[in-house]
Amino acid sequence: MGVEKLVVIGQGYVGLPLAMRGVEAGFDVVGIDLDESRVKRLTSGESFVEDIPADRLGRALGTGRYHPTTEYADAAGFDVCVITVPTPLRDGTPDVSYIEQAGVSLGPHLSRGCTVILESTTYPGTTEELLRPLLETASGLQSPGEFHLGYSPERIDPGNPRWRLENTPKVVSGMDAAALRRVDGFYQRIVQRTVPVDSTRVAELAKLIENTFRQVNIALINELAVLSHELGVDVWQAIDAAATKPFGFMSFRPGPGVGGHCLPIDPCYLSWQVKRTLGRQFRFVELANDINHEMPEHVVQRIMTGLNRHGRPVNGSQLLILGLAYKKNTGDMRDSPAIEITRRLQLLGARVRAVEPYAEPHHIPDGVEVVDLTERELRAADATVVVTDHDSLDYELVVRCARYVFDARDRCRGDNVERL
Ligand SMILES: NC(=O)c1ccc[n+]([C@@H]2O[C@H](COP(=O)([O-])OP(=O)(O)OC[C@H]3O[C@@H](n4cnc5c(N)ncnc54)[C@H](O)[C@@H]3O)[C@@H](O)[C@H]2O)c1
Repeated sequence: MGVEKLVVIGQGYVGLPLAMRGVEAGFDVVGIDLDESRVKRLTSGESFVEDIPADRLGRALGTGRYHPTTEYADAAGFDVCVITVPTPLRDGTPDVSYIEQAGVSLGPHLSRGCTVILESTTYPGTTEELLRPLLETASGLQSPGEFHLGYSPERIDPGNPRWRLENTPKVVSGMDAAALRRVDGFYQRIVQRTVPVDSTRVAELAKLIENTFRQVNIALINELAVLSHELGVDVWQAIDAAATKPFGFMSFRPGPGVGGHCLPIDPCYLSWQVKRTLGRQFRFVELANDINHEMPEHVVQRIMTGLNRHGRPVNGSQLLILGLAYKKNTGDMRDSPAIEITRRLQLLGARVRAVEPYAEPHHIPDGVEVVDLTERELRAADATVVVTDHDSLDYELVVRCARYVFDARDRCRGDNVERL
């Protein structure tokens, strides 16, 4: 048998690492992305995903078995295709149009016995009710029977050096037993451990449970942080103390709000599906969203009060924001609370400079100058705000030189530091 052909649709945070693993596992990999500039950069060996260094991409290109492209025609004759396109919200409701487009474009290139797997995070039922009919209509083939269809949620955690694609267990599912065997067999070549489940719906729900669990627990601890501040109790120390219990407790840390395109979005896919099919509210999700959405404003209020204590109005003051990304050690600014905090402070008349070592220049908010973390910048700022605590920043320098630090991440200690 010749080299098997793997197609990965979407070459972003999820698709690119999968394509790289595919090459390393011996597949001939076609990486399809409609974004021409991304494909050009990949073709020239430039990675925009922090977890994929340029040398790893270079090695994949060097094998001659990685082909980034914008053309669906290059999918022809594939053995396995994995779809990793975005699933955002549009006006608060799931936007599955990227999955629809991918299904319609891929359909004509299906052949008997091939396997198609959806990885995009989505509501239970998407693979069976939305993707299957699109693929069947466009290909003239049936699943189950003529092609295999499955769902396997992505658990990639950008910037996490310990848990990577290959050593994180992967939940796998198929439309029938034969599809499950194919999907499972594929991922056994990609990851160390697979977790087969009975249906695509179970696999879709598993992913939403994981992210809803995080969203709700972060909201719980955020609300506690706000209340503890008013009660005059150190919430960080209380959490650390609670976390010494070896069973029945899992530690979550407060923060300036949630961002990225998982936590604020995925639970809404579930609550939307519950509302749509049962006519009921998923109350935990609604409450968690409300609380987490209020955190940027809470941070702004605390900074204003802190500046006031130092005899400065926020209007006209100079602020230094540390970390614009939504997550530490990454440059991903999608829905970052730092952007919301910056915008609100600017509206109040503050001049904002930011330290963001991972930033891509075109993602920096208007009116914000990105600077290096230096003694001079810290001394010049009326307030330094730790929003996203990248490990590469020197927090000792921050405490030593800043006039007033508002720390939303518990990274700094000192008389000039106020923690969330
Ligand atoms: N980033 C994460 O940490 C993460 C983790 C788990 C799950 N997910 C889920 O994985 C999915 C993809 O997320 P991502 O972070 O990789 O997104 P991304 O935006 O980084 O990448 C998606 C890519 O798909 C491309 N694309 C869009 N429509 C296309 C089409 N019709 N054909 C070909 N390419 C197309 C886009 O140009 C983009 O490059 C989402 O459902 C997300 O919720 C993401």
